[in-house]
Parts: sequence; structure tokens; C-alpha cells
Amino acid sequence: MTVTPLQQRFLNHVSQTSPFSLGLEVGKAKGVHIYDVNGRPYLDFISGIGVTNLGHCHPAVVEAVCRQAQSYAHTMVYGEHIQEPQVELAEKIADIAPDGLNCVYFLSTGSEANDAALKMAAKLTGRSRYVAFTKAYHGDTVGAAACFGNESYRKPFALLLPQVDFLRFNDLEALESINQNHAAVIVEPVQGEGGIRLPAPGFLQAIRDHCTQTGTMLIFDEVQTGFGRLGGWFAAGVFNVTPDIIVMGKAMGAGLPLAGLLASRESLNRFAADPPFSHITTFGGNPISCAAGLAGIRSIEYDRLLTHASAMGEGLLKSAQEIMAAYPEKVTHVRGLGLMIGVELKTEAMARQVVEKARDYGVLFETTLLDEKTVRLSPPLIITPQHCHQGIDALARAIERL
Ligand SMILES: Cc1ncc(COP(=O)(O)O)c(C=O)c1O
Repeated sequence: MTVTPLQQRFLNHVSQTSPFSLGLEVGKAKGVHIYDVNGRPYLDFISGIGVTNLGHCHPAVVEAVCRQAQSYAHTMVYGEHIQEPQVELAEKIADIAPDGLNCVYFLSTGSEANDAALKMAAKLTGRSRYVAFTKAYHGDTVGAAACFGNESYRKPFALLLPQVDFLRFNDLEALESINQNHAAVIVEPVQGEGGIRLPAPGFLQAIRDHCTQTGTMLIFDEVQTGFGRLGGWFAAGVFNVTPDIIVMGKAMGAGLPLAGLLASRESLNRFAADPPFSHITTFGGNPISCAAGLAGIRSIEYDRLLTHASAMGEGLLKSAQEIMAAYPEKVTHVRGLGLMIGVELKTEAMARQVVEKARDYGVLFETTLLDEKTVRLSPPLIITPQHCHQGIDALARAIERL
């Protein structure tokens, strides 16, 4: 493979997270397409991993960003100055959230927000152990990494990590072990990086019940499921189970870095006091990101994208199931909800080949981090039936050629 000058400079000076970067040279991105530096369009079925739910450069988001950038960007560490974009976004989120979750603690990344949620649970309960689930992914800061549902990723940092008991996702009996030593149970209502795994009927409610009985806080990590990905604002609403804390990130800033905790005013007041400053963060709730996030929610509402995402998701799921029926020797499972869909291949090598072949056909898919047999379909919510058709066609052709 020939290395372009920009690729060489990237390899020289930009630190790698793994030895196998995807290497796409991005020229621009608009709507559901990313264009490489030669102008070749790629249909985006990844959304920056659940970030660009409104697609790229949505006019309402661009307008909000420009307007706010001309007004002010950063004035003080989070929580000190009153900034209207934060206030408006917090009010709006409280409006779309399940009852009782009415206050937002703004942060910058999903991992940081999970760490803050774990700290909040420790402070409010006075306890120090946690429950997480196999195949969970909550991010890579120290607290979040402790909840990584795959031991090999935790091992190099084991000495640093807080105590976490791992239970099998969807094992209702295992929930009996939640007890009064646990500060919190942290769970992705739909596991993302674990291979797009839906909760078994009653599983989330059973966790809620065990937490309530033992005084353990329930944290829903909605970094990936939030802001419309499942066809509802939050998984909590979709599954009708209300946690004590919802952790938000990714699509919250409509493409800009933004994350947060959503909880009750009362519990966030306790986090902020005695002693104060439990989790100071300089860039949390950056006003430009908040303006973008607010424009994002308003556009999802205005364009009725929740209903649209559900309809597009149902169609994609059905088409993926038809592909599985046509190639049972290659595709073993198809699962998902809304626009969070996983297509499980027989082997990791097959899944990788599907991703690579589809890219040759102009469609970007990716596998999930902890289940590399599963190819994820997570396009922007603005996807049209025609784009869905193009994506499914590329998927089917890639699988056919295996
Ligand atoms: C469910 C979940 N939680 C947390 C994170 C970490 O978020 P961030 O990369 O913004 O720190 C991710 C990222 O993929 C995620 O999928």
C-alpha cells in the first residue's frame, strides 16, 4: 500500500490508539456522507460511533455554533458563571427525560461522565464496590475502565482500578448478588461495544428492583443509546425503567464534545456539597457545544426524527434478517433496536472483511470493540429509505463475496 504524504505525517506525529488505524483521509462531511480528500463519498453507517445523529454539518447546528462562537466560547471553569446555552440545554434535557431526572451536571466526555457517576454513587451511599456486566464498555478513564467487561483490557491497569463485581448481562438470577456493599450498578441498557445486545424482557426492571431493595444507585450509561438512537430520547423511556443517574455523551453535543450526568436536583446537590467540588471540570458544558446540543434536540423534534429513526431501523433490521436467511452459513445473528443494529458473522475475520469490502462499495460500517464478529449499523437518524437501500445492498454484496 502506498502511503500518502499526509498519512506519513499522521504516522509520524499523531499518536496511535492501535497499530491498525482505518486511515481514511477526510476531506469534508455533509449529511449522511463523508468525503475523502479526492472527493469520493462514503455513506456513513457509523455516525462517528453514535455521535453525529443529525448527520454532518446540519445547518441548524452549524448556525448555532457560529452564533455562539461569535458571542463567547469559554469564560470560566464549569459551574461558576451562568451561561444561557447551558441553562437552555439543561432545561430541554429535563423536559425530554423521565420524570424525576431534572438536573444536568455538564462534563466533556462519556468516560469522564461515567467516572463522575461512580464517584457520585460512592459519595451518596458511602460504599465502595460496584456491579458491572460482562461485555460492558463504559470508556477508558480509570473508573470507567474498571467496569470494562473484558478482563484483558483491565489487566494492564489492575492495580489502579476500583472494586467491581461482574455479572452476566441478561442473567436475572445473578442479580441476587447485588447487596448493601454496592454503591452502584452501572449498565448500558443496550450494550453497544459488546455487540449490540438488547436487554432480556424484565432484566432492566429487575436491576432497578434489586437496587431499590439494597439502597444501591442505578446508573444507566446512555452515552451510546441517548438522544434518539433507539427511536426514543433515552433507553430509560424506551424500556420504561428510571435509573438514579443517566450518563450522557456522544450525540449530546450534536458532533461537538459534550457529556453529562442527568439526575435529580436533590442528589446532584448532595454531590456538590460537603465537601464541595467533587468533580471539577474546566471544559464541561462548553457553551458552543451546548448551543450545538440544543440545536440538535430541537432539530430532532422539528423533523420528527425519533419516529423516523424507528421506521428506518425496522426496515434495516428486516433487511439484515433477510440477508441472514440467505447466508445462514455466514451470518449467525441479527439484533437491534432503532438505529443501533448488529449483524453477527461467523468469525471475526469475516466481519473485518465485510467492513473492508463495503468500504470499497462506498459504505462505512465498523465492528464492535468487544465483539469483533459483529458489524454495527448505526447511521445518522436522518438516513432516508434510499440510503438504507444502498447500505443494505453493500452489506449483502460484501457478505455474498466472503
Ligand atoms: C456506552 C459507552 N459509554 C462510554 C463511552 C466512552 O465515551 P467517550 O469516548 O466519550 O469517553 C462509550 C464510547 O464508545 C460508550 O459507547
